[in-house]
Amino acid sequence: MPESTDTALTQIASRTDGARIVLDRVSKVYPGQDAPAVAEFSMVAEPGELIMFVGPSGCGKTTTMKMINRIIEPTSGSITIDGRDILSLDPSELRRHIGYVIQQIGLFPHMTIAENIAVVPKLLGWSKQRTADRVDELLQTVQLDPGTFAHRYPRQLSGGQQQRVGVARALAADPPVMLMDEPFGATDPITREKLQAEFLRLQESIGKTIIFVTHDFDEAIRLGDRIAVLSERSQIEQFDTPAAILAKPANDYVRSFIGQGAALKRLALIPVETAVLGAASAAVDHHRIATDDSLRDALDLLIVTGAPAIGVVDRSGSLVGSLTVERISTALGADATALAATRSDEGRPA
Ligand SMILES: Nc1ncnc2c1ncn2[C@@H]1O[C@H](COP(=O)(O)OP(=O)(O)O)[C@@H](O)[C@H]1O
Ligand SMILES: [Mg+2]
Repeated sequence: MPESTDTALTQIASRTDGARIVLDRVSKVYPGQDAPAVAEFSMVAEPGELIMFVGPSGCGKTTTMKMINRIIEPTSGSITIDGRDILSLDPSELRRHIGYVIQQIGLFPHMTIAENIAVVPKLLGWSKQRTADRVDELLQTVQLDPGTFAHRYPRQLSGGQQQRVGVARALAADPPVMLMDEPFGATDPITREKLQAEFLRLQESIGKTIIFVTHDFDEAIRLGDRIAVLSERSQIEQFDTPAAILAKPANDYVRSFIGQGAALKRLALIPVETAVLGAASAAVDHHRIATDDSLRDALDLLIVTGAPAIGVVDRSGSLVGSLTVERISTALGADATALAATRSDEGRPA
């Protein structure tokens, strides 16, 4: 028996901490075009996963993402969220339960910041008080002071501040799924890095299932739990963790996307504490790195100071060991071996 849209949506919406999304052989052929923009795209996003779609302009990232909230209707294939077939649900209702940050921020210029964030709660019929409380809470979450910003208009905010409002608006009704289309694309590098760091902290506490589109591979590495490297028609060239892709690119296409400096990029993902440290007494100078910094930070410090070894300190500030360039290189090799082992385990039948 077909289930009512209402029941299905209530069940999706009640999972505010992340839902499982399954796309099965999803294709899109735009009217009047012979070739599909997206061909037979299949993927599973587990609850709470942050999945990055990375690929060149025009490869079909936005089209693929917009089919999940049915801003674009798939030509064929199926999409489910927590087992519910979204193609059987009312599209405009569905969109209220999926947070969406569009490529050009897209704040309504004639509405205040508070009104922009309140759009979906209003559609969902929340009371004035509940909406106002939520707006305040979200502005604080994205580090904008409600007293200062709630009653301003979008044009009175910087690009980075507008991006934050875009994220707050998408989070308003606490949706289990967030779709983010190059949300930090329009900002300068320094602002972008700040927004990325804030976003990572935010995701740690909210644990949504997020599909995040970017054309910036470094952004994908920094943010993603897993990355789908896409080529034309949203073909998946590789779908794996950032560390695994960097250590073992599936083909030349992926390799070209990684670009120069794969080893350095991998070092940035490995915390100092995973390396085998040398004796604390070897750190004769005063240069120090923390256990939760990355090996790339450690290498930077070694290069900048010219010290043969630097000291490693734990969270309480006690010296627990030392690091050299050789030890960093060994850790990089061990990391690749460990990754290869994990992957052959996964391939084994249970
Ligand atoms: N509304 C549309 N009508 C026809 N073709 C479109 C439409 N939107 C996108 N396309 C085409 O589909 C392909 C994928 O576009 P898009 O999903 O926007 O890629 P991306 O987000 O990766 O840059 C491109 O070739 C683009 O020109
Ligand atoms: Mg796009």
